[in-house]
Amino acid sequence: MDPLAFIIALAREAGALLCERLDGPREVAEKHPHDLVTDADRASEALIVERIRAAFPNAAILGEESGAHGGRGDERFIVDPLDGTTNYAHRYPLFCVSIAYERAGAVEAGVVFAPVLGELFAARRGGGTSCNGVPVRVSPVAAVSDAMVCTGFNPAGYVRNGAYFAHLSDRAQAVRRDGSAALDLAFVAAGRFDAFWEWDLKAWDVAAGALLIEEAGGRAGAIGGGPLDIAKGSIVASNGVLHAEMERLLGEV
Ligand code: IPD
Ligand code: CA
Ligand code: CA
Repeated sequence: MDPLAFIIALAREAGALLCERLDGPREVAEKHPHDLVTDADRASEALIVERIRAAFPNAAILGEESGAHGGRGDERFIVDPLDGTTNYAHRYPLFCVSIAYERAGAVEAGVVFAPVLGELFAARRGGGTSCNGVPVRVSPVAAVSDAMVCTGFNPAGYVRNGAYFAHLSDRAQAVRRDGSAALDLAFVAAGRFDAFWEWDLKAWDVAAGALLIEEAGGRAGAIGGGPLDIAKGSIVASNGVLHAEMERLLGEV
């Protein structure tokens, strides 16, 4: 089975589950202060893990809610069953399902599906990025002063980003904080945001979104320079043109 076709169908199925539960009663628990988990996160992940196990029995899985499931080959699925849980808990419609397919340590396909928006972003390595099947590209904006950039605040360490938020607010045309890192990255890929940065993310937040950006003509790296390491967590992503300026501005803080 083609992994990209599989994760597209799977993200749509999980997104439908999230939408079905959106208006109903829900259980909200705090994993840590400011870090929520709902019954919908768990149900979405259970569905995704079950489907992967059935279709790719040898693949490993890294899921936010159930952790690492071992596999027997070099394939791995990296899953955020609901990115933007706090938004979801408040019925704020910016949330998504993020699934990446990795082979031999490289992300080969990625999908971010925002079910309320009805937008599915998908990329295959070397094959470009699409939104609902239509190719998308990063923006052509060439200066941070003309850019709308986005960031996020890690629930366990949000104080750290305050100074960066203030500095970029001073330099960019606008700074946004939308509450779903995977969707923020998809929006960079689609040219809606011109750049994004965040500290202390996890592999499931960025694995799919970084591929979307690269395949849409942009760049994703680590804050402070160097290639993105999805296991390490800091990310600065951009349309490519803005990358050096974003790195410099973040470095000034
Ligand atoms: C969170 C969101 C948020 C980001 C946090 C993440 P979750 O993921 O992506 O935008 O700022 O750092 O933890 O908990 O909603 O899956
Ligand atoms: Ca997440
Ligand atoms: Ca999540």
